[in-house]
Amino acid sequence: MKRNQSKITVLFAAFCLSLMLCSFASSSENPAVAAPETTEEAKPKLTVSLELGEVTYKHYCTPCHGMKGNGNGFNAGSLLVKPANHTDAKFMSARNDAKLFDTINLGGVEVAKSTLMPPWGVNLGDEKIKSVVLYLRELCQCKAAKNW
Ligand code: HEC
Repeated sequence: MKRNQSKITVLFAAFCLSLMLCSFASSSENPAVAAPETTEEAKPKLTVSLELGEVTYKHYCTPCHGMKGNGNGFNAGSLLVKPANHTDAKFMSARNDAKLFDTINLGGVEVAKSTLMPPWGVNLGDEKIKSVVLYLRELCQCKAAKNW
């Protein structure tokens, strides 16, 4: 009796193992569960827009520049250099869109400003940075004399 029981257990275990192996083999061939494409073509193309700029700004810039963009983010107090006030029309109209793009893309150091203003190019990419520039113009309600 005991012998039969252990035989059944062994058979059952072998059956389970074969089921597992079969499902594993078939799932690796199944395109529905294949790893997602990570090539450049698979990335959705972003469109430059004010909305994208606002979302991006609120996510990445407000910790230092503040929710209202006036330079009073929660990190501002612990920085040796005060983050720029993006609502200051005089300050912002002295910088054209190309200059703002470079500042955001490559960081403060690119425009002879503090390294406490980080470079964002790798994280954001051109479309998001251009969108953020649109949003900066909205925040300052200003334009530069000559853009791009
Ligand atoms: C870690 C804090 C921090 C974050 C996050 C940050 N900044 Fe700044 N930013 C600064 C500081 C500090 C300055 C002031 C640099 C100076 O005056 O030398 C600055 C300055 C600037 C300036 C003005 C540069 C000039 O021409 O004087 C712009 C424009 C700017 N930031 C845009 C952005 C944008 C857009 C983002 C989000 C993508 C962002 N910053 C995120 C800290 C930050």
